Amino acid sequence: MAMTTDSNKAARELLAFYVEAGADAVLGEAPVDRFADVGPALHPPLEGEGRQAESRPGWGESQRQTRSPPPGELRSPTSPLQGEVKQVASTTLPLAPEAAVMAAREAAATAASLDDLRAILDQFEGCALRATASRLVFADGNPAGRVMFVGEAPGRDEDLQGLPFVGRSGQLLDRMLAAIGLDRTSVYIANIVPWRPPGNRTPTPQESQTCLPFIRRQIELADPDLLVCLGGPSAQALLGVREGIMRTRGRWFSYQSGAREIRAIATFHPAFLLRSPLQKRIAWRDFLAIRKALRT
Ligand code: URA
Repeated sequence: MAMTTDSNKAARELLAFYVEAGADAVLGEAPVDRFADVGPALHPPLEGEGRQAESRPGWGESQRQTRSPPPGELRSPTSPLQGEVKQVASTTLPLAPEAAVMAAREAAATAASLDDLRAILDQFEGCALRATASRLVFADGNPAGRVMFVGEAPGRDEDLQGLPFVGRSGQLLDRMLAAIGLDRTSVYIANIVPWRPPGNRTPTPQESQTCLPFIRRQIELADPDLLVCLGGPSAQALLGVREGIMRTRGRWFSYQSGAREIRAIATFHPAFLLRSPLQKRIAWRDFLAIRKALRT
């Protein structure tokens, strides 16, 4: 009995250590020796297999039949870290970076509506974050709103709820919106990257590049009058600026959204404001500029 308690405690401590270190996704139930895993890669693809022919060695048709259930169904209800650990079984190799961006462009362009885009993103396999996130975090708010806010990537709370900006920074964003008479019934909110990076790490440039065609299409389909980039990475990705947020915030840009040009502004990310509350008074100026722009 004492031994079981000790080993449970040790296992819990080890898991807590992994999660703290950012390793919060389980990629499979059993360890896999990737170095031994070289056989069928040498075989030519079977006719009709398409991209599945590029599947991991030995992960062909029979693997597909035993493919894991969708995210969420995999979680053990008794897991001590329920809600933090997701088990993933991937059957395909990641696309090469340029191929992933190309596939994203092609897929995004076929979306005729926001619902279409959400469905397409949900199936898109070109971004590895999809495998470690619990779910797609597509958008919140009103797509018919005149202003659209775009952040960087979902965090843990967003990943759990499937909605952007619902954690502490989202609550601050809500208060900032309220201060200029807006709320989620009048604004639309999304992120550059719609899947949570493991351990809330910053998305890699490759991940952002791959997701960029989708957020661009999302902006085009929502067709807001004003675009607000929350934080430097969002401004850099959407406005093409190289400078940091200290220099770009509060300036008006022109953003080409499909056939029309709309006004765009960058401001501090609410997570930064939580860490540096003194900067709120500067962000307040940006929000006043947004309110003024919406009145004209
Ligand atoms: N930070 C972001 O950039 N986006 C979210 O949705 C939440 C936190």
